[in-house]
Formats: sequence, structure tokens, C-alpha cells
Amino acid sequence: MAQDENKAFLKRVALFSGLTDSQIERLAAGSVRRSFPKGRTIVAEGEPSQSLYVLLSGRAKVQRSDTEGKEVILAVLGPGECFGEMSLIDDAPRSASVITIESCDFMSINKESFKAILLSSPEICMRIMKGLVKRLREADKKIETLALLDVYGRVARVLLDFSEQVGNDRVVRNKLPRQEIAKMIGASREMVSRVMKGLEVEGYIVPMPEGKLMLREKLSNYLSASSPCSSSWCWSATTRAIPAGRMPSSRARPAISAAGSGPGSPISCCTCSACPRTCSRCS
Ligand code: CMP
Repeated sequence: MAQDENKAFLKRVALFSGLTDSQIERLAAGSVRRSFPKGRTIVAEGEPSQSLYVLLSGRAKVQRSDTEGKEVILAVLGPGECFGEMSLIDDAPRSASVITIESCDFMSINKESFKAILLSSPEICMRIMKGLVKRLREADKKIETLALLDVYGRVARVLLDFSEQVGNDRVVRNKLPRQEIAKMIGASREMVSRVMKGLEVEGYIVPMPEGKLMLREKLSNYLSASSPCSSSWCWSATTRAIPAGRMPSSRARPAISAAGSGPGSPISCCTCSACPRTCSRCS
């Protein structure tokens, strides 16, 4: 009975579509269906690998942490996505932890069954390779984001990546805690809160019920590293001169060091109310 259910689930997984009945049967024989509540670790970074996993429902984060416990979120996985294949392929320890952020149903497929399928199906090998290439492309994009965009651009990128088109609008449907955004972009939770508030005040994002967010089209302006703010006194550059009589309001200027008080002098912390952007030093 459980075996039949496993077969039915595996047939619905895109990665395994096109497998023959006997191949699915072999895979199902080495599979177990599991359910975990929110906050449970499915795969632990550094541990040896035994299984490949397929998410059937719910979402899980892929995360790495350093010896001091600081964490970075590499990806958020959703239904239909596989994980745990990397260490099965190269026999190295798990490259990251995978932790549920909602209650999740998933299939766990043992190493031997997965390897047997890889050896018997060039098509599955090709799909696994495509999945790895997709991940590399996403990692390249993330490196670009971290290296070239300021903190507003990084937050904008996360919001846009997690949004979907609903009619004429882009909407982030699933609640995205600020702490999680911070872990994706290498910023503090406080900084993310400040940026989100700025984006909201300036009408780049509109909070909706149940933690959803509507994104205005102009938010994508932040994705261009070279997009200068049109405001003549924008402080997103550290050494921008401030035209006389154009000092930003105190709301737009949470903290300015003495060093940043004169035209053309370096500014250590500010937020432009027009973009709104932080100076490049404090981002
Ligand atoms: P493995 O190293 O076996 O265990 C952790 C898993 O997390 C890994 O296999 C991948 O399936 C997944 N993973 C690691 N890095 C990323 C990433 N950058 N994006 C998405 N998934 C990842």
C-alpha cells in the first residue's frame, strides 16, 4: 500500500517523469514518505549523505553557518524541488543544511536506488545536470547582487525574486521575515527593517493583509548598480556635494557624522528620501 502511494508520488515528480514503471517501482522500493513540522532539520551541513529528497509540499531553506553560528540562506526550496543530490554525487559531506520553514511533506530516496537510476537513465542524469547548472546560474546572480548592489538593491532583488505576477502587479505572497531577508543578503535585521520602511514610505512596496507585499514597478530601478538617483543631493555616493539650501529632512537623515557635514566631504550614514538610498558606506 505504502509502496503504491510512493510510486504515485514519484510519478508526479518532474525529475522522474519519463521513467518506466519498473524504474519507478525500483525507486519506490527505496523510498519513504516523511512529514516534518516547521523548523526541523532534514539535512545537516557536514554530515555524511544517505539519501536524496524531494519536497512534496511546504518550503525549506538551504542554509550554511560559520563557527560563530552566523547564518546565510542560499536558497528557499518549494514543492517538486529535489535536494541532497550533491553529496550523493561526489561523496563529500553535506554542503549545507536544509531546514523546514513550513510544515513539509517529502520523499526520502536512498542512495543506492538513486545511483541505480542515474546509471540506468541518461535522461535523469541530464535533468540532474540541468538542475545543477540552474543553481550555478542563480549563484552567479547572487554573487553579482552582493558585489555590485547596495543594500536597497539587494533587498529589492530578494523581493522581486520571491514575487509573482498577479494581474498587473507583482506580489510576494508568502510572508518573508526580515531576519530571513537579512540572512540572504548579508545585512543585519535592523538594516533590512530600515530599508523596508524606507521603501514603504516612498511607495516602492505596499504592505497587504496576511504579510503579503505588493511591489511597485519602480522597485526594479534598484537592480541597476549604476542607476543614479535623480535627486540632486542624493547621498548614495560617499563624496557627493550637497547643494546649499538642499539639506534633506531629519526623517530622511537618521544619522550623519561630523565628517559628513560639508559639501563634497565623506558622509558616513544617511538615507536619501528621494530614492531612498543609504550612503555607500553604511550600506
Ligand atoms: P547536499 O550537499 O547533499 O546537501 C545539502 C543540499 O542543499 C545540497 O546537496 C543541495 O541539494 C542543496 N543546495 C546546496 N547549495 C544550494 C544552493 N545554492 N541552492 C539550492 N540548493 C542548494
